[in-house]
Amino acid sequence: MSDQNVQRTLAIIKPDAFGKKLSGKIIDIIENAGLSIIGLKVLRLTAEKAGGFYAVHKGKPFYDSLLEFMSSGKIIVLALEGTDAINHWRSVMGATDPAKAEEGTIRKLYGTRIERNACHGSDAPETAEVELNYFFKPEELVP
Ligand code: CMP
Repeated sequence: MSDQNVQRTLAIIKPDAFGKKLSGKIIDIIENAGLSIIGLKVLRLTAEKAGGFYAVHKGKPFYDSLLEFMSSGKIIVLALEGTDAINHWRSVMGATDPAKAEEGTIRKLYGTRIERNACHGSDAPETAEVELNYFFKPEELVP
């Protein structure tokens, strides 16, 4: 496979999954999917920091509760690398709404509803770069 397809993406294990001690299981799925972890941090976001991350959703009806939720407990942010990593990680997570997620995906296994969907992933190369830079300095990534 061509090196051209090697990408980086940002993954987040959200407060619902972290609080239920599912982080290890989710990291196991990430590694078994062939994605390499090149950065990892445990964080507790402020609502402001969560708001900056989700700025694209500002003004949407779920924005305030999304920030409240994302700042409600610890999270893990991961920088992932691999072939077609952005779409690969999205398919491993499953659909945003756990009710619509495919069997075996993380959101189907561990999400409970759209606002409590266990994990996040970047949706395109441009957003992946912005999102990785939001949480990681270049020297914190270890390919
Ligand atoms: P995520 O992939 O982290 O990106 C934004 C989050 O907002 C999304 O997961 C969901 O948890 C949440 N979200 C997206 N759409 C809706 C919606 N229609 N109602 C409530 N929450 C939503």
